[in-house]
Amino acid sequence: MTQKISLTRYLVEQQRDHGHIPSQLRLLLEVVARCCKTISHAVNKGDLGDVMGTATSENVQGEVQKKLDIIANDVLIEANEWGGHLAAMASEEMEGIHVVPNRYPQGEYLLLFDPLDGSSNIDINVSIGTIFSVLKKPEDHAGVSEKDFLQKGTAQVAAGYCVYGPQTTLVLTVGDGVAMFTLDREQGSFILTNESLRIPEDTKEFAINMSNMRHWDEPVKRYIDECLAGKTGARKKDFNMRWVASMVAEVHRILSRGGVFLYPWDKREPEKPGKLRLMYEANPMAWLVEQAGGTATNGKQRILDIQPKALHERVSVILGAKNEVDRVTSYHAG
Ligand code: AHG
Ligand code: MN
Ligand code: MN
Repeated sequence: MTQKISLTRYLVEQQRDHGHIPSQLRLLLEVVARCCKTISHAVNKGDLGDVMGTATSENVQGEVQKKLDIIANDVLIEANEWGGHLAAMASEEMEGIHVVPNRYPQGEYLLLFDPLDGSSNIDINVSIGTIFSVLKKPEDHAGVSEKDFLQKGTAQVAAGYCVYGPQTTLVLTVGDGVAMFTLDREQGSFILTNESLRIPEDTKEFAINMSNMRHWDEPVKRYIDECLAGKTGARKKDFNMRWVASMVAEVHRILSRGGVFLYPWDKREPEKPGKLRLMYEANPMAWLVEQAGGTATNGKQRILDIQPKALHERVSVILGAKNEVDRVTSYHAG
C-alpha cells in the first residue's frame, strides 16, 4: 500500500530536506490548517447550526458581514494568538491589525487572511474558502505596526487557501511549487494529493463577471470580444466560460485544469483600482499561480511587484495561463 503523506509529514520533510520551513513557520501553517478544518466543519453544518445568514455588522469595506465571515475570522484570530509564532494579524474583516496580546510571546511572522472568500455563496451551498498570506516582520525595530505589513507580494514566505467544496482542499506554497492536500474526514488530517500543480500556458476557458461588461476598459473588452468570437474570430478557437463568484473556487479550477481569471478595474467605482484586495486576496493567489507556472498582473504590472500603500488596498486582477495573461497585459500596453 502506498503511504499517505499528511500535511505534518510534508512540512517536516520540506524543513529537513530543503530548509524551506523554519519551525515557527511550520507551527503557523499547522495552526492555519487546523483552523481551516474547524471552519470546514462550521460550513458543513449549514442550516443545522447557527452559521447561515447575515450578521448585523458591516466590515471596513462597507460590506454586510455574514455570520460565517465573523465565525471564520474569530477561529483564525483565537487559534493564532498564543503559539508564539506571530507578531500580528490582519484580516478583510478587521479595520486595523490585531497585535498578539502581551500575555503571549511575540513571534517573527505576520499573518494576513480573507477568512471567508465568496461570502455570497454561503447561503446557496456553493464553494467558498479561506485565503492566507504570511510575511516576516521587519527585524529593524521592536513592536509591530500596520506599516510592517505593507510589503510587496514577493516578500511572502508562505501563501495558500482552503476551498470548502465537495471536498475540503488545502493548497499551499512556501516558494517551492504548489502542493495540494485533501481533508480525510475519517482521519481528521490533510493528505497530500498533488505535490506539484501546474497551469498549462494556453487555455480555452476564461472566468469574468460578464454582467460588468459595459463598465470595462477597452483592453478587457477587446480580449473578451475575441474570446467570444470563437473559431471564426481572431483567436481561431472556441472558448468556454465559468464564473463561481468565489475567487478561491476560480483559482482552484485554474490550478486543477487551467484557465484564466479576470476581475479588472471598471467604471462603476473609477477611483478604486478594482474589487479584490491586494494583500490577502491577490498577492497569495498571484504567488500560487506563479509557483504553478502561470502569470498574474493588474494589466500593467506583475501583482507581486506592487508596493502596497494600505492594508485594504484594492487591485485589478488578471491571472492564470501565461499566454492569455500576457495577451491581456499587452492589450493594456497598446
Ligand atoms: P469576499 O466574499 O471575500 O468579499 O470576496 C468575494 C470576491 C471574490 O471571491 C469573487 O471573485 C468576487 O468577489 C465576486 O464578485 P461579483 O459578485 O462581483 O461577481
Ligand atoms: Mn474574498
Ligand atoms: Mn471574505
